[in-house]
Amino acid sequence: MKRFITVATAVLLPYLGATLPAPGETAQIPPPVALANRQVLEEGQLTFHPATEPNGVGILVVPGGGYSGVSLDYEGANTTAYLNARGYDAWVLNYSTAATAPTPLYPKPQKEALAAVAQIRSENRVSKLGIWGYSAGGHLSAMTLTEPGVALDFGILAYPVITMDPDFTHAGSRRYLIGENPSLELQVATSAETRVTPQTPRTFIFHTANDPVVPVENTLWFVSALAANKVPFQSLVLPDGNHGIALALADPERNWTPELERWMKYSI
Ligand SMILES: *[C@@H]1O[C@H](CO)[C@@H](O)[C@H](O)[C@H]1NC(C)=O
Ligand SMILES: *[C@@H]1O[C@H](CO)[C@@H](O)[C@H](O)[C@H]1NC(C)=O
Repeated sequence: MKRFITVATAVLLPYLGATLPAPGETAQIPPPVALANRQVLEEGQLTFHPATEPNGVGILVVPGGGYSGVSLDYEGANTTAYLNARGYDAWVLNYSTAATAPTPLYPKPQKEALAAVAQIRSENRVSKLGIWGYSAGGHLSAMTLTEPGVALDFGILAYPVITMDPDFTHAGSRRYLIGENPSLELQVATSAETRVTPQTPRTFIFHTANDPVVPVENTLWFVSALAANKVPFQSLVLPDGNHGIALALADPERNWTPELERWMKYSI
């Protein structure tokens, strides 16, 4: 029998804390309770990877996989190792995909990401919390960043799927998330570029201009929406590179982490 953890309690505690902060404590802004109460994470779906010398900043890592799987090693473990070595506590979300849940998936992965944020916040380990997503995990991260009331501190998106516009999306991600014939309303509601507001957290975005799987327009449209809403951002578009290169640490032409590190140092 599968065991489930309800995060209702985990969400309620910081919520009460926001109403009545303990002396010396800063109130936290929780996700809306009505939304978060519905969230359920299966045990083991969210794994914690602590930094040996924590700097107080945490990051929820959301690997890609076209909503058909989760790249837990290649994008997950490599990213947590990278973050932990730099003092960031990290969590990895093994969200529902076509491999593990009925399709169309929406809004199951979105609820899981919100539940993960609520659970991490309830642990009170970090004073700032961001989300870092790759590809379809970038879509899930962008949806979470733009969810009203969630108030993450920052986002990092690597070659993200942003839009569900059929001409520019990743077709497989769209099909698994919202089905073959979604309503226009659903397509718009799941296109992250339509959800940006002045409250959207500051964001770093990386893409390659000739990404053959997820068109660079996904990043350009999100960046345009951030600019229109005066949200601070940094975007790095490199001229050439395949989709799914992860951190590319060993590739001098494509390693994008020096720019990311500068952004993290001055913008988080
Ligand atoms: C991720 O979740 C799926 C579905 O629950 C599960 O089959 C798989 O073992 C999980 N992966 C890890 C590494 O925990
Ligand atoms: C990811 O980590 C593995 C070892 O776990 C390593 O072999 C591989 O080169 C890394 N990939 C990237 C893209 O960093």
